[in-house]
Amino acid sequence: MKEANYKNILVEQDGPIGIVTLNRPKVLNALSHELMDELVTALEAFDQDDSIRVMIITGSERAFAAGADIGEMSDETTISIMLKDRFATWDKVRRVKKPIIAAVSGYALGGGCELVMTCDIIVASESAQFGQPEINIGVIPGAGGTQRLTRIVGKHKAMEMILTGRPITAQEAYHYGLVVKVVPVELYLEEAKNLAQEIAKKSPVALKLAKEAVLKTYDASISEGLEFERKNFYMLFSSEDQKEGMKAFLEKRQPTFSGR
Ligand code: CAA
Repeated sequence: MKEANYKNILVEQDGPIGIVTLNRPKVLNALSHELMDELVTALEAFDQDDSIRVMIITGSERAFAAGADIGEMSDETTISIMLKDRFATWDKVRRVKKPIIAAVSGYALGGGCELVMTCDIIVASESAQFGQPEINIGVIPGAGGTQRLTRIVGKHKAMEMILTGRPITAQEAYHYGLVVKVVPVELYLEEAKNLAQEIAKKSPVALKLAKEAVLKTYDASISEGLEFERKNFYMLFSSEDQKEGMKAFLEKRQPTFSGR
């Protein structure tokens, strides 16, 4: 898929930051199969591009995304939805190696909330709301919500959100550690870009291994995770960036990271 062919997203580069804006305003950025295919294509292209260090996914002020596209799903049967296995595409977002920041305003519901939780850091506007309302339409979260939300907010809050379908505000999301910062609506994208710029200055190879190690928490026991983290730490000592970073510190100057 060529960039020019994207119908549901906008893609731009701002220095070392690759930005994808979800763009189906008429349906509050409902995450259709086509949109998810485009999103994954754009993120994978950024992942391959050495001039990009950090990515941002954002939506509009009114909606980050109001969930998977209900219109597309309503007539599915167990067998048809299983055979298509469209949610497998979502796993590819999880496999992106560079850091992804979600800049969220308005609705982040259902698959929208799940997509946000697949990102690495979440910045929210004061109007953002996060929720898993699938219970209201007779289903449950299907793109990681039961697993990721529970790990982030704890069992009891996750149960309340998933069983009632009620969303939480940006401030509550901050309280539960889902978002790292809540800012006025006009600033959420700028705030995400500032954070991205800060991260972009770090060694790309260390960022990759750090992200990989943090994510290991999700699919490993603590002992496996600790072992993995240590291995990645040791591995960095064969990078030029480790030599440069430590030398620069001792020489009291800013490091220049090459990503090698
Ligand atoms: N899929 C398809 N269309 C959607 C949609 C979705 N998830 N969410 C909103 N839309 C559409 C509406 O149908 C409406 O279209 P029309 O103008 O053609 O009628 C348009 O977007 C605007 O929406 P509303 O008029 O409903 O706007 P509102 O401000 O009154 O309400 C809302 C906003 C509370 C977000 C409401 O739209 C809503 O409840 N949406 C559905 C949320 C939801 O249930 N998400 C979970 C989806 S299932 C899922 O995500 C499964 C999974 O785990 C991956």
